[in-house]
Amino acid sequence: MTVRPILTAPDPRLQAISMDVETVDAEIRTLVEDMAQSMYAAEGIGLAAVQIGVAKRVIVIDLDQKEGKKNPRAFINPKIVWASDEMAVFEEGCLSVPEIWDDVERPARIRCEYLDGDGKKQTLEADGLLAICLQHEMDHLNGVLFIDHLSRLKKNMAVKKLAKAKKLQAVG
Ligand code: NI
Repeated sequence: MTVRPILTAPDPRLQAISMDVETVDAEIRTLVEDMAQSMYAAEGIGLAAVQIGVAKRVIVIDLDQKEGKKNPRAFINPKIVWASDEMAVFEEGCLSVPEIWDDVERPARIRCEYLDGDGKKQTLEADGLLAICLQHEMDHLNGVLFIDHLSRLKKNMAVKKLAKAKKLQAVG
């Protein structure tokens, strides 16, 4: 298991459209483990493979992690098959968009289909934070960041802030 560095915007690799996983084999299981370790190291609750530079449709989420009791869930090739008309607003952040949080509106409930870490087909109806997190991570698989949902003005401000932080990082 390896903690891998997480890409940050505006890295163009974050805009990649991730590819479907053909078989959940040892390579994918290792990827899932690496993603979980990288997510915990960065203190995140969700991570898409593309955020560690692997453009495959794999997501890891753990919403009830506690010290010594971690329960990462893998969602492979996830697809939204239904979304509620009812919307919910949540202040989102992202490990690839450091230090920026903003309100994003998304369907409050979704039903999705995916393969679990054993390659078994699953259907899940989610609401609350899980629904938000799944939609946020599925956006990553299509090269979309949460700041892409903001108004142009707010997005420009976020991009400027990110560019400035990167410059400071490069110097320091
Ligand atoms: Ni994110």
